[in-house]
Amino acid sequence: MNLKSYLKEAQKKQYALGQFNFSTLEQLRGIFLAAQELKKPIILGTSPGEISYLGIKEAIALVEISKEKYKVNAFLNLDHAKDFDIIKEAIDYGYSAVHFDGSYLTLEENIKKTKEIVEYAHKKNVLVEGEVGAIKTESSKIYNQKFKINEEDLTQPEDARRFIEETGVDSLAISIGNFHGIELKGKNPKLRLDRLTEIKKKTGKTFLVLHGGSGTRKEDIKKAIKLGIVKININTELRIAYYQGLKRNFQKKNFELAPYKYLPLAIKKVKEKTIEKIKLFSL
Ligand code: 13P
Repeated sequence: MNLKSYLKEAQKKQYALGQFNFSTLEQLRGIFLAAQELKKPIILGTSPGEISYLGIKEAIALVEISKEKYKVNAFLNLDHAKDFDIIKEAIDYGYSAVHFDGSYLTLEENIKKTKEIVEYAHKKNVLVEGEVGAIKTESSKIYNQKFKINEEDLTQPEDARRFIEETGVDSLAISIGNFHGIELKGKNPKLRLDRLTEIKKKTGKTFLVLHGGSGTRKEDIKKAIKLGIVKININTELRIAYYQGLKRNFQKKNFELAPYKYLPLAIKKVKEKTIEKIKLFSL
């Protein structure tokens, strides 16, 4: 099955595929081990920042080798790309999907640029995720203060409809009170599920994507899937898991110095967190 058929199946059966971001072999290994154990397909996300560290060809090669090694169906998605050059590179080198984040543009400009990307990507059978409505903040942050949902940042259902009609995107990232990163106490504000219901009515069969999955309340995730979300992105919680694995080693008096001895702790933590998320997103 290709990515599109998995997303279609998710829509039909009401579950969501997880997109898990990575920039190191250890994170990737943790994610693959989780998918292998649960026998589930996964989407792997790499942002331009993550790619600038790992390298796009390295990411593709590592994923290809891991797919074979762990017998897992995995699909690469370029996450939050704003620049056509890197998008083209990902498409040409073999990513399954690309996310063009034009949410910082006016709706007209966003439509124009997204349309160009869709034309290029679809020729090569690569899916395109567009974005309407602003998703603020970053995945590397644990926010100390309360996150306030700004009504103006939420996706307008009519904008979403127009965007899909005029661009032909396959998936749409929406803003319904979700944000990248987590609040210090680990529980983000409730999602605006009323807005999701309105967006779903206007967007039909387009795959709806929830960014900023870390810290989102379990009950909100379950409800959002019932209301039409088919892909959920997770990054911050995996980064925290990785860090906790490393911290456990370096806090010991006689800590291990050989990476191959302490990195398995980070892999284990990432695996456990990914298992928790895949289970939450499943039927
Ligand atoms: P979190 O860092 O909040 O999990 O969000 C990840 C994300 O949306 C990547 O696109």
